[in-house]
Amino acid sequence: MRFSEPRHFSSEPHLTMGRILLTFSLLLFVAIPGLAEGDVTGFWVLRIPNGDGTYRETFLDLKQSGERVSGKIMPGFRDIPISEGTLNNGKLHLVVVSRFIGQEVQIAYDGTVADGKISMTVNFPGREPLTGTAEPSKPEAALPPPRLPLPSLHDVPDNGLARTPPMGWNSWNKFAGKVDDAIVRSMADAMVDSGMKEAGYTYINIDDTWEASRDAEGNITTNQKFPDMKALADYAHSKGLKMGIYSSPGPKTCAGYEGSYGHEEQDAKTYAAWGFDYLKYDWCSAARIYKDEEMRPVYQKMGDALLSSGRPIVFSLCQYGRAEVWQWGPKVGGNLWRTTDDIRDRWNSMESIGFSQFGIAPYVQAGHWNDPDMLEVGNGGMNGEEYRTHMSLWSLLAAPLLAGNDLRNMSEETKAILMNREVIAIDQDPDAKPVKKISEQGSTVVAARVLHDHAVAVGLFNRGPRPANLGVRWEDLGLEGKLNVRDLWAHEDLGPMADGYNATVPPHGVVLITVKQ
Ligand code: GLA
Repeated sequence: MRFSEPRHFSSEPHLTMGRILLTFSLLLFVAIPGLAEGDVTGFWVLRIPNGDGTYRETFLDLKQSGERVSGKIMPGFRDIPISEGTLNNGKLHLVVVSRFIGQEVQIAYDGTVADGKISMTVNFPGREPLTGTAEPSKPEAALPPPRLPLPSLHDVPDNGLARTPPMGWNSWNKFAGKVDDAIVRSMADAMVDSGMKEAGYTYINIDDTWEASRDAEGNITTNQKFPDMKALADYAHSKGLKMGIYSSPGPKTCAGYEGSYGHEEQDAKTYAAWGFDYLKYDWCSAARIYKDEEMRPVYQKMGDALLSSGRPIVFSLCQYGRAEVWQWGPKVGGNLWRTTDDIRDRWNSMESIGFSQFGIAPYVQAGHWNDPDMLEVGNGGMNGEEYRTHMSLWSLLAAPLLAGNDLRNMSEETKAILMNREVIAIDQDPDAKPVKKISEQGSTVVAARVLHDHAVAVGLFNRGPRPANLGVRWEDLGLEGKLNVRDLWAHEDLGPMADGYNATVPPHGVVLITVKQ
């Protein structure tokens, strides 16, 4: 990195105070434009305070030529080329185009260069701008730690947990980095008071951003938002709930916090000592060290560590469905494994994830579940029909039901969706039989799942923007005769019906029925 030197003035022995002041202001006048013309070429580390005593580090590798600036930005674990960069009168403007949750977004880094530092604002569309300071750094600082050897493969014994898909709440969808001790406690209260616990929701899961760093013995420490994890877990347990925590097999989590790399056993013991019952383990920066084909031994390491932690801990794999995780997830001790990129609170996101899951449905079995990501019900980005589709589809898929909304102020409609016991019963059916797509025509899909009492749950889905008439024939379900039909959203017996059932389904909506002898 080079900066042009401030200009030097020859000093005269007989300067008066006035001349000193004049010279000083001239110096300022000349020196600042001098800096503005400075060259930002070099390696920088941008530190953005997270507001909890930790900083998010982003590295910048910049090359300046005239007013143009090129290079790359490394927000944690990816290299993103700068697509547009200028330095003009001390104002740095960099733009990168990044893929974020399946979408291309433009992120702008705007900075003022002064005194060898850059005061920066990061503008991410739809979010509050973040501010921090970039200082010169060494390229080595951005390198991942040295690769650790991987264990040889073996099958981790089944931990016996999650015989039906886990149900609970997770902080990420609604609170992301704003989650703290008080929010988690109030969510545990709301889980009980709202009736969610009674309906089967048990886990209170803290997602990313609870971490600080490591103490002298290498133990993971919590940041200012979580003063006492053991006390927090005790609180949830005192309400009859269970607690979940989050980490990464890489050196950093997805939000840039401390990961478990090289500390797997130690961290598993810490979670057990704090009283945690569930771990979500998110790949992210592990991608800087290992290839996708190496995911199995990496996850096996934590699977083993959890088993020998002395506490039963549900193991949730989060690697976005790469490397056909459904083939080996159970072998690393996984109770559930994410099958897709992150969900967003939008119809397009939810429906493209949900309807893409039928092919891998046969991989579900008691204790081992496909996880198409957490629920968005009640977060406000979809209407009631769409949220009923979300809940119906996730239940037919035997997906984990992890609410991602604010449980403290749910509308009656949100409560009715999340706590529809008849729909939950499909999700939690003890036989864990896979859902099957029965038919698909244009934007309509009919899917069915056989339940333990031989009833068949059938979802009539309309993905289109206009009402659609659709139906199912008993023979397509391998059934015949007059069968009893019950509408699980209307909570109504529709009576015995011969041959089949037809319904008009609202746009983006569902009619969910059970069919029984
Ligand atoms: C990834 C995961 C999300 C969430 C965030 C936290 O994006 O897929 O579910 O855990 O990381 O940083």
